[in-house]
Amino acid sequence: MKKKAFVTGVTGQDGSYLSELLLEKGYTVYGLVRRTSQFNRQRIEHLSSGNQSENFKLCYGDLADSSSLNRILEKTNPDEIYNLGAQSHVGVSFETPEFTSDVNGLGALRLLDAIRETGIKTKLYQASSSELYGKVVEKPQNENTKFYPRSPYACGKAFAYYITQNYREAYNLFACNGILFNHESPRRGENFVTRKITLSFAKIKNGLQEKLFLGNLNSERDWGYAPDYVRAMWLMLQSDSPGDYVVATGKTYSVRYFVEKVAQLNGFNISWEGEGVNEKGVDVNTGKVLIEVKKQYYRPTDVDYLCGDYSLAKEKLGWEPNVSINELIEIMVKSDNDLIKKLK
Ligand code: NAP
Ligand code: GDD
Repeated sequence: MKKKAFVTGVTGQDGSYLSELLLEKGYTVYGLVRRTSQFNRQRIEHLSSGNQSENFKLCYGDLADSSSLNRILEKTNPDEIYNLGAQSHVGVSFETPEFTSDVNGLGALRLLDAIRETGIKTKLYQASSSELYGKVVEKPQNENTKFYPRSPYACGKAFAYYITQNYREAYNLFACNGILFNHESPRRGENFVTRKITLSFAKIKNGLQEKLFLGNLNSERDWGYAPDYVRAMWLMLQSDSPGDYVVATGKTYSVRYFVEKVAQLNGFNISWEGEGVNEKGVDVNTGKVLIEVKKQYYRPTDVDYLCGDYSLAKEKLGWEPNVSINELIEIMVKSDNDLIKKLK
């Protein structure tokens, strides 16, 4: 029989790639969408209008609205649920801590309780995050590393992580936490650092922007490729028993490295001058200042270093990342340069 999946966060980066994967595998996909004042379905437009459109259905609701979740689960009775919906920007979570905690933390509980209330037989994937490790207590981080959340975003995700485990134990629910490290793509939101850098350099190269303003250049991340990571989500729900898994590349690079590499692919050669908020990135060939540091992009508490150990996912799920950091950067640079050329 054809499997059915319910995906929250379907309009987001991961929701769109996961929906593609599920449709390819023959699922019917139900996606949760919110009412927005402007059309925000660019990432899934091709699925709504393509030859798979009869298998791709959208339902209005919200993770802040329990009754909408109950109604959708009753109506659709999905075999698998992927909870990807979230206020996913860590920096913004300091400005909207209550809203972020409500959607990211209580939202997960609302979904779990809707499963319990409706009594449907299903499996749940919860989008947990490497942000849980925060001020890391060991390197690299694995499933046993102690959490030290450093933002309202991470605190909300910590609640979601533990309540998912609790419902698994209390109600014998097949529920998994994917502790995913940063993953990027051409569909990444424009105010996350990687996309901000690739898009800005495409604009600078084409004369549409003068400078790029950034925050903490020394922050280090374990960056992977989003399509690789949604495959891990699906594999978790195909496993014999539920569990929690780190999904990462095991390699770490700084924001500074990401900038230098993107600049180089766009024909610039960056040299750094000054320190802290006075630091600037100068193009050696022209002497032009292309990067400046702005205090507003610093966070009250940041996560300085992340590096994941994905051995368990490799052993139990047979999962491994396929795309390296330099391949990821090339994919994103090409995509944003094509985009800007079309707009010009
Ligand atoms: P994203 O592109 O920002 O997408 C977030 C999605 O959540 C959007 O579809 C958004 O809908 C939806 N959403 C926001 N508030 C909602 C609400 N109140 N009710 C229902 N849906 C809501 O994020 P992503 O990068 O795809 O990440 C997917 C999930 O993985 C998130 O939970 C994120 O926290 C988590 N995660 C991401 C990473 C990463 O590196 N990407 C790593 C670890 C964990 P609108 O389009 O209507 O805003
Ligand atoms: N966004 C942003 N903008 N970040 C900047 C900037 C800037 O101008 N300048 C420096 N950074 C630094 C941030 O301070 C952070 O240390 C790092 O770049 C990465 O920031 P983001 O790209 O915003 O991602 P994130 O690591 O905070 O959060 C992402 O990954 C998490 C997994 O670890 C999000 O996708 C979260 O939803 C996800 O859970």
